[in-house]
Formats: sequence, C-alpha cells, structure tokens
Amino acid sequence: MAKILMINGSLHIGGFNAQLVNKIVELIGNQAQVSVLDWENVPFFVQNKEFPTPEAVVSVRQMVQHADAIWFVTPEYNYQIPGGLKNLTDWLSRSLDVTNPRGESAIHGKITTVSAASSDGGSHVRPILEDLLAFIRTKVVKEHATGVAIKPNNWATGILEFSDEDIVKLNQQIKALLAKLV
Ligand SMILES: Cc1cc2nc3c(=O)[nH]c(=O)nc-3n(C[C@H](O)[C@H](O)[C@H](O)COP(=O)(O)O)c2cc1C
Repeated sequence: MAKILMINGSLHIGGFNAQLVNKIVELIGNQAQVSVLDWENVPFFVQNKEFPTPEAVVSVRQMVQHADAIWFVTPEYNYQIPGGLKNLTDWLSRSLDVTNPRGESAIHGKITTVSAASSDGGSHVRPILEDLLAFIRTKVVKEHATGVAIKPNNWATGILEFSDEDIVKLNQQIKALLAKLV
C-alpha cells in the first residue's frame, strides 16, 4: 500500500491546517497508509551545523525517505511560505553526501502535492511552494491542488468548515495523487 507523509507548514496545534490535515487523512481512509510528520524540533538551518546532521533533521529525513509521496498542507504568511516550513524544505533539499553537494537529498524524486488553509485558500502560497518543490527535484502533482478558505465565522469558532466544493476538490486531489502511486 502506498505511503503518504503529511507535512503541515503550521505548528499550530488544532489550527486550521491541522484540521485540514485531519480531513485529508479521513478522506484518504484505507486507500493509503498515512502519517503526519513531527518537525517541531528541526533547528534553523546554519551551514556550519549541517554535518554532523542534527538528530531532529535525521529523523524527519528518514520519515520523508520512507514515504512514496509527501502532501504539504500550509498556511500563507504575507503571500509566502511560512518561515518554519521554508526552513524545513531547505534541510530536506540538501545533499545527504557531505562530499557531493549535488548528490541526492532525502526528498529528491518524491511525488509531492500541496494544499492550503488560509484566509483566501492560499492562492499565492500554493504556486510558490509548488515551484520550490519542483526546484528541489520533486515531482509535483498540481492537478486539483486544493485551497480551503477560512470562512469569516471560522475565526470566532476556531473550526475550519469545509464546503461541499472543498470536499469534492480534496477527493479529486487524492485521486490525482494516488494515480501517480500505482
Ligand atoms: C504572519 C502572518 C501572515 C499572514 N499572511 C496571510 C496571507 O498573506 N494570506 C492569508 O490568506 N492569510 C494570512 N495569514 C492568516 C493565516 O492564514 C491564518 O493565521 C491561518 O490560521 C494560519 O493557519 P493555522 O491555523 O493552521 O496556523 C497570516 C497570518 C500570519 C500569522
């Protein structure tokens, strides 16, 4: 069975993107084996602290290497990728071989896809993250990349509401991703 790793660009426990991750996991059901990456302890990237690789980085790289596909779910910060997620992708983009900076990274060649929960559904951040993922040599599935808008009343309740259209799009994105994994 295909293994999908979810990466939430927000560390906000119970936040809107965490709720979107949960919804995607629920919709995937038994169509794949899904896990969610814990990347909270990944340090800021500093080039002279790259080797020996920090333990938290070794651990997230192993999770990424073990997966067939990586599904990024992210908020949008000032139309951009949140800093924490950008830092994580920087670590994941780096060669595993200290002697060869152009060598394979943990994420090299992986199938990836992007969704977002943000005020307007992350219409700016999604293409930026897709471009970054292509640049770091992943195969990006762009079909049906879903942006879930945080509706005005969701801010008061803290609950992300999914429209019927959101669910249709998420199911289409799941189908498009799984089609690449057969
Ligand atoms: C620094 C910052 C910048 C933000 N910029 C944007 C933005 O450009 N577009 C947008 O739709 N929402 C923006 N937001 C709102 C986020 O979409 C919102 O905080 C969202 O809840 C974050 O998701 P989370 O609950 O999963 O952490 C911004 C929030 C922060 C904290």
